[in-house]
Amino acid sequence: VSENRVLIYIFGGSGDLAHRKLYPALFNLYRKNHIKHNFAVIGTARRDWSDDYYRSTILKSLEELPGSFNQKNSFTKHFYYQAHDVTDSKHYIALDNLGIELEKKYETQGNRIFYMAMAPKFFATIAEHLKSQNLVSEKGYNRIVIEKPFGRDFASAKELNDAISDTFSEDQIYRIDHYLGKEMVLGLLPLRFSNPFFEQVWNRDFIDNIQINLNEELGVEDRAGYYETAGALRDMVQNHIMQILALTTLGAPEKMSAEALRDQKQKLFAGLQVYKPEEVSKYFVRGQYGASDIPDHEPAYRDEPNVAPNSTIETFVAGEVHIDNDQWRGVPIFIRTGKRLPEKNSRIDVVFKPRQNPIFSQPDEPNILTIEIEPEEGVALQFNGKKIGQTTDPARYQLTYQHSKAEIAQVLDAYERLIYDVILGDHTNFSHWLELEKTWKFVDAIRQYWDNNAPTDFPNYKSGTAGPAASDSLLQRSNRQWIYQP
Ligand code: BG6
Repeated sequence: VSENRVLIYIFGGSGDLAHRKLYPALFNLYRKNHIKHNFAVIGTARRDWSDDYYRSTILKSLEELPGSFNQKNSFTKHFYYQAHDVTDSKHYIALDNLGIELEKKYETQGNRIFYMAMAPKFFATIAEHLKSQNLVSEKGYNRIVIEKPFGRDFASAKELNDAISDTFSEDQIYRIDHYLGKEMVLGLLPLRFSNPFFEQVWNRDFIDNIQINLNEELGVEDRAGYYETAGALRDMVQNHIMQILALTTLGAPEKMSAEALRDQKQKLFAGLQVYKPEEVSKYFVRGQYGASDIPDHEPAYRDEPNVAPNSTIETFVAGEVHIDNDQWRGVPIFIRTGKRLPEKNSRIDVVFKPRQNPIFSQPDEPNILTIEIEPEEGVALQFNGKKIGQTTDPARYQLTYQHSKAEIAQVLDAYERLIYDVILGDHTNFSHWLELEKTWKFVDAIRQYWDNNAPTDFPNYKSGTAGPAASDSLLQRSNRQWIYQP
């Protein structure tokens, strides 16, 4: 394993995201020797913390991870804290000075990563100051990592992108979508493009519909401050679902490279049908969870901390998406995501066309390929065979493959992998601005219609149930159904 040299600035270093995701991910990279001696991290946020205190909070965030106390302790010695007001220029000078000092000490060769792990409203200001106060290094590489949400509609996303692009070029910008770091999402292209028996039938002649589910059991938890401004459409559809949809349906890239993949994603999104206002309620369904049926169990969304008592924010979305190109014209892609559904389940079901079998008396049952992203990580294929015994009756067969839990435990998790990609300078698993442009426009059209037509039936599903009935009707009207029934 070669040693990577890097200085990482984490804006929002005292925050929840940094402690829940980034420090554990960095520690795992350290444990696996991907970063070792020549790295340093400067955490910065408003609060006035000492280095020692900062390190103690990091140690705490590593409690559950394997590794000895000594190893964790040595890791935290690479961390430094600088209190910072993101709007005040002189603080950037302090950040730069500390950076220069640590670059000498850790011999990081001028490589700098700026990680935005704080409220998005500050991203643009920070990017501008990084340029005006010369934090962008002239010796090594400079990379900026942006957490979601990347804007709240096309206009704000563009504004943010323009501001960041003043300082950083597209190849220095890493927009994180953590679903792109998940094992089975990364496995989509190899599955599609290294198996002739899938590749040949991956089109509208053979596929009847595709279903993408990102279902969650948890509710809004303590994130209402953000969620009340977002809702499931912005939170899950614009990014995670659209990226998974793209990887499931894009055309074959020339080779496995960030550029080739980006080209195919763009071609695909060029066909994404943006709905007119009068089409939205035909193709999209929204929901909000009410209290669970079990007394004193989960509260209604409107009774969660910091949620407005008459909130019209959706915690559930189901929809039918269409791609207008030769490969997919006429194939509905059903998507579904929601909070407080019966269980956590992220998966893709590809449903092949059933046909009237010319040889056997009854029609074939459809072949179904399921790609399980979480909690299981694997693939299942349902197909038709013969019932065992002295009969010609058909039977349903299923082949399954699953990564073992032991194997999964060995691989980098989504965050580790993506941060490591940033360190390596690999863009393959990040979203490009042009993808955001398309997906925001798609989402904006639905959002606008919903904002102009407030829901009258919220809450319309109980916590712990499969979402509003309208999500089933979406498929039933064309005699289809959700393959995954929670
Ligand atoms: C985040 C959303 O991007 O993804 C959350 O903001 C959601 O609302 C989460 O819970 C789901 O991610 P995962 O990895 O737990 O499926």
